[in-house]
Amino acid sequence: MTYDVEKIRADFPSLKSGLAFFDGPGGSQVPNQVGTAIAAAITQPISNRGVTTLSEKNAEEIVLGFRKAVGDLINADPAGVVYGRSWTQITYDFSRTLAKSWKPGDEIIVTTLDHDSNIRPWVQAAEAVGVVVRWAKFDTTTGELPTSAISELLNEKTRLVAVTGAGNTLGTRPDIQEIAQAVHKTNALLYVDGVHLTPHTPIDMQAIGADFFGLSFYKIFGPHCAAIAAKPELLKTLNNDKLLPSTSESPERFEFGTLPYELMAGCTATIDYIANMVDGSGSRRQRIVNSMAAAEKYEEELFEYMESEIKALPGVTLYGHAENRTPTLYFNLKGISGAEVHKHLAGLKVNAPASNFYALEVSRALGLGDTGAVRAGLAPYSTTEDVDRLIAGLRQLAK
Ligand SMILES: Cc1ncc(COP(=O)(O)O)c(C=O)c1O
Repeated sequence: MTYDVEKIRADFPSLKSGLAFFDGPGGSQVPNQVGTAIAAAITQPISNRGVTTLSEKNAEEIVLGFRKAVGDLINADPAGVVYGRSWTQITYDFSRTLAKSWKPGDEIIVTTLDHDSNIRPWVQAAEAVGVVVRWAKFDTTTGELPTSAISELLNEKTRLVAVTGAGNTLGTRPDIQEIAQAVHKTNALLYVDGVHLTPHTPIDMQAIGADFFGLSFYKIFGPHCAAIAAKPELLKTLNNDKLLPSTSESPERFEFGTLPYELMAGCTATIDYIANMVDGSGSRRQRIVNSMAAAEKYEEELFEYMESEIKALPGVTLYGHAENRTPTLYFNLKGISGAEVHKHLAGLKVNAPASNFYALEVSRALGLGDTGAVRAGLAPYSTTEDVDRLIAGLRQLAK
């Protein structure tokens, strides 16, 4: 399993711009293969899904292909894969659906490590039904979210635990498998935001033990849309609002309106791209695991270098240093705002924005208010040269 970053980079037209992208946690760049698949899907004969005409069959094939591909990416049952416009939209939909069975006095658990899209929909749904919201707090010194922060809040009234697979600013990877074991000692469901985790490691949602696991494709080389997976039997028990003439079958019942076939074809191409990123053999699932393991190792080594160089800068404050992390750094330089750092780096064609990145609770808990800090994240196409350009740019500002 050789990881050839230059071969991978050659597939991404946007990398020829000369920009060094450290804004991958906000959205990745996209390979040619994905753009081509989207164009081909939308210009071929295409109608609404069906089994009669060629154009209906093309749409049908795309939808089934999408579910199968997502199933391979995260080891989910394709019959439990639901398409969504974004993770935020999916979580709003599922929070309202799950809340239908909640009663006043029930409890849910959210965490301060999460992106707001895995907090606010739950908090608002809970408020609407009189459900108690319990907050699992990450350790602001280490950035860790220990399992105990969640397990000590669990009890027989807990209906749901919403937690991130990885924090999108601190990179912290809570031990989701251990959290799942604790959650499943009660009757609560575990809802995992895999948006920032999925681009950095092989995912096996069945081994993790998540009841729901989702991702956004635009963070992992794909188009701007998302998916969530659950066991088909679990989806069947949920009673969501839907139009009268639309199907009662799941997963279709959770997908509103006509699906964007071209984006779904783009998602399948994204997953095929990942499977082929590193030479390997076996099923698509096996090749995905192989590629993502190789990408993870590559990123880990580069991250070690990036972190040590940033740590060595005078006047730098790095937030969080959890033991298990994605290659994502969140930091400030003394005497200069994050916005100015962002602007200075942009002048050097280095993308590293500053914000709370919607991990608002993280930013506030760290004493950074709503302003946040600078974020630099690696992607599978990042290089040592990119890192050197980032460090050189930061060095000009560090005092
Ligand atoms: C961890 C995490 N969760 C959720 C989201 C939101 O995803 P979407 O834009 O698909 O709603 C993001 C985007 O930054 C994220 O990083």
